[in-house]
Amino acid sequence: MRLAILLSGRGSNFAAIQEAIANRKLDAQIVCVISNRPDAAGLARARELRLSAHVIDHRQYPTREGHEEDVLRVLAEAEPDFICLAGYMRRLSPAFVAAYPHRILNIHPSLLPAFPGVDAQAQALAYGVKVSGCTVHFVDENLDAGPIIVQRAVEVRNDDSAETLSARILEQEHIAYVEALAKLQTRKWRIEGRRVIFE
Ligand code: GRF
Repeated sequence: MRLAILLSGRGSNFAAIQEAIANRKLDAQIVCVISNRPDAAGLARARELRLSAHVIDHRQYPTREGHEEDVLRVLAEAEPDFICLAGYMRRLSPAFVAAYPHRILNIHPSLLPAFPGVDAQAQALAYGVKVSGCTVHFVDENLDAGPIIVQRAVEVRNDDSAETLSARILEQEHIAYVEALAKLQTRKWRIEGRRVIFE
């Protein structure tokens, strides 16, 4: 399974996927890592690992389309089976999504459809939910909205801050992303409407 990673920052989900591959828990290969930010820690890690690492800095492009064209060009050369958004802080245009139908994954730090968008963990705390978690889903043209592949729940504690809740959710994110990829790799799944059905 050939994986492309798109990230913008810390890259702990990327690192979790890479470690699962290194530990033979996931039979896959990271064929490229693309960051839209030159200072992303995840990009530095990709370089240390001697992976094919690319900076495509959106600030250097006058238009969204121009930036996406270059990202798509690198992806086309890398020929990924799946594209993993791992803290990639750019929305993808409908044309980008259409180029890889049901092949782009995202991870979001809430149990979708609750709390899409930024600061999902703080949103969950402010709302007062007792359980939150994380969601790995296919990317469609709407924000944090595509068919759900894996979710993992995390209890919210009385004394949680956004930071402590985020940290516990992040541990589950790392498990969930690897689990989602392993499940997709079986090929024993199909999509019915919004539902991803695993056999
Ligand atoms: C994670 O919380 C993920 O759910 C969200 O952005 C964060 C990325 O973290 N989409 P990292 O860069 O993978 O450490």
